[in-house]
Amino acid sequence: MNIKPNKNILKLQPYVPGKPIEEVKRELGLSSVIKLASNENPYGPSLKVQKAIAKAARDLNRYPDGACFELRQKLAKRLKVRPDQLVFGCGSDEVIVMAIRAFVEPGDEVVIAKPSFLVYRLAAISAGARVKEVPLQGLRYDLAAMKKAVTRRTKVIFIGNPDNPSGLYVAKKEMAAFLKDIPDTVLVFFDEAYYEFVEGKDYPDSLALLKKRKNIVITRTFSKIYALAGARIGYGIATPEVAAILDRAREPFNVTSLAQAAAIAALDDEAYYRRILRELSQERERVCKALQKMGVAFSKGCTNFIQVHLPQDSRVVAAALLKKGVIVRDMNVWGLTNYIRVTIGTPSENKRFLKALKEVL
Ligand SMILES: Cc1ncc(COP(=O)(O)O)c(C=O)c1O
Repeated sequence: MNIKPNKNILKLQPYVPGKPIEEVKRELGLSSVIKLASNENPYGPSLKVQKAIAKAARDLNRYPDGACFELRQKLAKRLKVRPDQLVFGCGSDEVIVMAIRAFVEPGDEVVIAKPSFLVYRLAAISAGARVKEVPLQGLRYDLAAMKKAVTRRTKVIFIGNPDNPSGLYVAKKEMAAFLKDIPDTVLVFFDEAYYEFVEGKDYPDSLALLKKRKNIVITRTFSKIYALAGARIGYGIATPEVAAILDRAREPFNVTSLAQAAAIAALDDEAYYRRILRELSQERERVCKALQKMGVAFSKGCTNFIQVHLPQDSRVVAAALLKKGVIVRDMNVWGLTNYIRVTIGTPSENKRFLKALKEVL
């Protein structure tokens, strides 16, 4: 090839997602495979949501509403924010990319934790930013070191709250103390993809923080508890000024009409999703108890996934589980050699995972 690629793109290691079920079936000749690798909701979207998608499919000849008007009104009411405080993305991933595109110029600095959600790094590097990675301290954010990493060139700090892969969050008090010393020229990005799963009373009320500070973006998603990962829809909440800048950085029709219809219907069917939330929380307890009984170490966190700390190389264990039709996430991609990340599935999926793990170990 004689075309010279963008040098920042050459620095990227492509994101390696959890393997799709069909690919594993094809490759390993298996008829039954379960996926506990991408922190998805193991149950489908509600019937009401499926009906809304089918109805919206009739109008697929038309471009979607780029402004997501109906969803914007509904969500604004739900969150008690102004409609112009919201931005919508093709997954919350896209809002991460929009924030970088909107605020970061080549040579600017972006502060993230290590390990943390991989998209922060990918988005920052492709924009030519310098990424400052601050190691976790025993799976927790080292906020003092993150504060120290901020310089005059820092434009964005990413805080996955709770983060992936740690499954842990920065608590209210720590967050308030941290924010006090961050200059208002730095965008503090709270990624709350797992917001709905958190039960802790000390979880920060980021919307209240946003009322006091202008330099905050909060993202949430319909991919996790709302079971719409395949539809790709997430959103950001910021001040109207910041939201307007983010909005400039998006493609005109970035959220499909099917995704918009699905999200609106999902917000109308809260009872269904609350039931699943309870079910997954109970299942997480059951899985953790079973691991304890097996003498396997783990970190429970507060999301729909756990980390299992293995007595051997996780690559070997993940490959052996795969052969048994159980897809988990080998955490070597994050530099953690003895860990797998496992999403909480349905009761039968969890049983199958535990049985397979017992056999493998
Ligand atoms: C911490 C975190 N943020 C953001 C996302 C992106 O979610 P989506 O783009 O599907 O909204 C994920 C997905 O796994 C995640 O773990």
